[in-house]
Amino acid sequence: MSAMAIAEQTSPPSSAAFDLVPLDLAWVRAQFPALAQSVNGHPAVFMDGPGGTQVPRHVIEAISDYLARNNANSGGAFHTSHNTDAVIAEARSAMGDFLNCDADEIVFGANMTTLTYAMSRAIGRDLGPGDEIVLTLLDHDANFSPWKALEEKGVVIRTVKFNEADCTLDMQDFAAKIGKRTRVVAVGYASNAVGAINDVIEVVRLARQAGALSYIDAVHYAPHGAIDARALDCDFLVCSTYKFFGPHMGVLYGKREHLTRLRPYKVRPLTDKIPHCWEWGTLNHECIAGIKACVDYWEELGRRAETGRAPSKTRRAAILSAHTAIHQHERQMTEKMIAGLLSIPGLKLYGISDPQRFEKRCATFIVRVEGHTPLELATKLGERGIFTWDGNYYALNVSEQLDVEQLGGFLRIGLVHYNTMEEVGRLLEALREIARIKS
Ligand SMILES: Cc1ncc(COP(=O)(O)O)c(C=O)c1O
Repeated sequence: MSAMAIAEQTSPPSSAAFDLVPLDLAWVRAQFPALAQSVNGHPAVFMDGPGGTQVPRHVIEAISDYLARNNANSGGAFHTSHNTDAVIAEARSAMGDFLNCDADEIVFGANMTTLTYAMSRAIGRDLGPGDEIVLTLLDHDANFSPWKALEEKGVVIRTVKFNEADCTLDMQDFAAKIGKRTRVVAVGYASNAVGAINDVIEVVRLARQAGALSYIDAVHYAPHGAIDARALDCDFLVCSTYKFFGPHMGVLYGKREHLTRLRPYKVRPLTDKIPHCWEWGTLNHECIAGIKACVDYWEELGRRAETGRAPSKTRRAAILSAHTAIHQHERQMTEKMIAGLLSIPGLKLYGISDPQRFEKRCATFIVRVEGHTPLELATKLGERGIFTWDGNYYALNVSEQLDVEQLGGFLRIGLVHYNTMEEVGRLLEALREIARIKS
């Protein structure tokens, strides 16, 4: 497949390609019971999506329905255990459609961090002195420390810089750091701090050219853009369902050849068959039921956006329609948010702010405001019912490199598709008012 074709499949669709009806926000919001809450008389505004999103009713019901009717361990010779096996198989197939890979290339785990430690240890079994791993300073620590731990085997870690002006990866540095000793290249699809979308297509290409494995952390990207593991041709890709409207779990895609070839650390009675040999102990079956329901939600969202045109024939195609509709809405909110943030006196926004380059960022914004710590800002916003985050969100290298780690990091405002333009207005108004009052 040509680089252009891959780019078309893996980058957000342009608004010109948008032929769907706009997101039905009233329907979307009605699916999420949590959004109806209020705090101190203010309707709650959930701008904490990068830390974890809310879940639709369908997911909540699937979890409780599993516990009510099918609660059992897997692999038993009786009804509820058979049902449990079926629930897991359906969720695996649904995640295969979400990431565009085969069901047996999907591994379930507690979260992305745990899955990444498992994989780095397995990959690390074959590494030693002289081998190199390339990491980036823009990544969440969960795609940094599990690889850095292999230094104890003599592996050399090489880190890629980011450009401080717009907080995007330095791709020249990337190309320079990858060489003939590189064995693994680990990179985020999008930054959970500055919101930059990285050129993962190019990173996978560079890794493959060097004969290295590519490991993509798509945790932050997943609620914002379509992921196509097959087109991307990466070796591994990880995400966490609780960041895209599902339960608290992690999912790893691994190319079948690698899942088969690599040797997991595992207990003896566990099968050697993939993907089960990578799933240790009893899984969280109720959450796995919720994962299937989460993908159902994406499918439903896509089909609703297709009103007035031929409906998608497959679940995967409907998921892509959902992404197109989401992208349009998030883009509009991004325009309003960035223009508004930049007009607040004393506020510094980190990351891409040029509207011409908005396709290279997600609707995730980090700021600092003169005279206020991020914790103060988040607390005052929280009192007004607006949920944001403060600190480094484990993107520790980012806050250290930008020299704000000792100053409380940044305030992070994260939007997902259930947020509204009106909520963006409320955030901006509240932040402007808080910024005016010197503490
Ligand atoms: C970009 C990114 N990578 C990895 C993680 C870790 O995910 P998990 O909590 O599933 O281990 C997070 C969590 O915030 C994240 O934002």
